[in-house]
Amino acid sequence: MRMDVAQVLHMKGGTTETSYSNSSLFQQKVISSTKPIREDAITCFCRETNPRNLAIADLGCASGPNTFFLSFDLIETVEKLCRELNQEAPEYMIFLNDLPSNDFNTIFKSLESFKQKLSKEVVGETGPCYITGVPGSFYGRILPTKYLHFVHSSYSLHWMSQVHK
Ligand SMILES: C[S@@+](CC[C@H](N)C(=O)[O-])C[C@H]1O[C@@H](n2cnc3c(N)ncnc32)[C@H](O)[C@@H]1O
Repeated sequence: MRMDVAQVLHMKGGTTETSYSNSSLFQQKVISSTKPIREDAITCFCRETNPRNLAIADLGCASGPNTFFLSFDLIETVEKLCRELNQEAPEYMIFLNDLPSNDFNTIFKSLESFKQKLSKEVVGETGPCYITGVPGSFYGRILPTKYLHFVHSSYSLHWMSQVHK
């Protein structure tokens, strides 16, 4: 019997001590170290295009806090830029992708506290922010064509969820 890895692969869900959520500090450091590259990329994009809405995807988001660190940093960067340029902030659409067995519920339960953090820590009122889970393998099509402005993936591509034949 051939097992379809993409149907069963997942990080340990929930928020217990041994969950991915509580044992992804190393991956968090990796995300922090790549922050300047993301900031440059999103700043260049927004300077050039001044988008009214900004569609961002995090491929292989898992169920930990890292996906929110990423979203927070990107929104904070764009908000600062808009203030500096005296432009209206865009609407944010954030697509959190992972394989179907990922614990998306743990992510959804944290959405409210993420939005509270945004309103407390980012100066002024941010553009509206819509966050959605997108279950499916990033080796296939998971969103419509020409839909995304910014695609991010950290520590996910090396997972052998698809083996070359
Ligand atoms: C180590 S976790 C990294 C999670 C998060 N990006 C971080 O930095 O903490 C790798 C994630 O990639 C996901 N993943 C692996 N292959 C995937 C695929 N083909 N499509 C979508 N997600 C995938 C796994 O399910 C897992 O949640």
